[in-house]
Amino acid sequence: MADKNSAIAGEEPPSVAGLSIAGTSEAPAAGAVEQQIDPWSVSAGQDAEGNVLAFDYPAISNRKWNTKLIDQAILERFERVTGHRPHRWLRRGLFFSHRDLDKILDTYEKGKDFFLYTGRGPSSDNIHIGHTIPFEFTKWLQDVFDVPLVIMLTDDEKALFREDLTIEQTMKFSIENAKDILALGFDVKKTFIYSDLKFYGNGGSHMLWNAFEFSKLIPFNQVRGAFGFDGSTNTGRIFFPNFQCVAAFATSYPFIWGDDVNSPIRSKKTAAIPCLIPCAIDQDPYFRLVRDNSLRMKNPSPKPALIHSKFLTALQGPGGKMSASNPNSAIFMSDKPKEIQKKINKYAFSGGQETVELHRELGGNPDVDVAYQYLTYFEDDDEKLDKIYAAYKSGEMLTGELKKECINLMQAYVKGFQERRTQVTDEVLEQYMKPRKLEWLGKKGKSAPPAET
Ligand code: TRP
Repeated sequence: MADKNSAIAGEEPPSVAGLSIAGTSEAPAAGAVEQQIDPWSVSAGQDAEGNVLAFDYPAISNRKWNTKLIDQAILERFERVTGHRPHRWLRRGLFFSHRDLDKILDTYEKGKDFFLYTGRGPSSDNIHIGHTIPFEFTKWLQDVFDVPLVIMLTDDEKALFREDLTIEQTMKFSIENAKDILALGFDVKKTFIYSDLKFYGNGGSHMLWNAFEFSKLIPFNQVRGAFGFDGSTNTGRIFFPNFQCVAAFATSYPFIWGDDVNSPIRSKKTAAIPCLIPCAIDQDPYFRLVRDNSLRMKNPSPKPALIHSKFLTALQGPGGKMSASNPNSAIFMSDKPKEIQKKINKYAFSGGQETVELHRELGGNPDVDVAYQYLTYFEDDDEKLDKIYAAYKSGEMLTGELKKECINLMQAYVKGFQERRTQVTDEVLEQYMKPRKLEWLGKKGKSAPPAET
């Protein structure tokens, strides 16, 4: 029942982004607030008493947006096809939903090319673990599949959507963020990272043509509902989604495939190369738009496939949001060991009891405990994790002990990052940002199993 305000017609359900997403179809109780998820604002629901609720992911993705939940069957197929055990973030449901991942596995199985595309909106130069995790995961996918990767830094988007930021500032953040992202260890032969505002004018002409051709297919009605635009929205915001969409077309990067950048022709063959996009679930509205229209391009591109992640839990607990403007909401990649220790001890929401005696008697609640949650992000050993879960729940393990485990892991992660970050000089960055032909082997590559970080 798509009306004329509807986001996106076609196979996907009608207008969804910007709508509040209730856990059920029932009206919320009086005084309750529904969760809200769209590409620019994310907030958890509240119950009638004003308590913040955890996000209800199946409600939004599976039931409202009609994505597929990642289940055991697809994980088993992933392992069969790639020969790699699924990453712990897949096993534990941090990446929990997808569109057409099975088709990407078909493509890979047949030894055909596809590429990975992800991005970041550079809104500050202060990144935290909520920012690094999606990129760590993308790097793992790149290692497993041995495929090209493009990383889009949307300094245009951030300057348009944040009243307080200028394009000079966001372009500067792009450079700082790019260095941080590269400190995660992407292979320079297979990775192209770009600042939108610089690339469009310098090697990105095919992307501009794609954006204009694509924009011609998209009436305002179609984005108005999806992104919450109205008559007073600045026109840059209205045009921007075209860019984030066409970044999923292989023809936006002719140099990667050895196509002629100076030719006015965008290759039909290149257009047919599939794309897989790892992203947080709030980015899905963009990609529904491209999925519904990619086949309408003169040189059609397949609907991009997606793997969606949940939001990472803020230190304050489920429903909270890691925020660059609140240093106590997250572990930042610039934090010193002592700061990490203090933040986790002081701010990490605890599922423990008020006193040691009570804790021993009643046990803790690992399901709401943030230190435990972070262990599930970074501790790879499933057995060890199960033991900690049981020990904390029974009261045998105390909150301080659980937090210590978490502090050790987080300190090691941040330290490793900081060491690698010092290696990413301007010269290194320049290599990754240069439009050039990439080299990859896909299924033909017999690379060693990638290490999980
Ligand atoms: N809009 C995203 C943000 O604000 C950045 C982005 C662009 C992105 N393209 C992407 C994120 C593809 C994930 C996948 O952070």
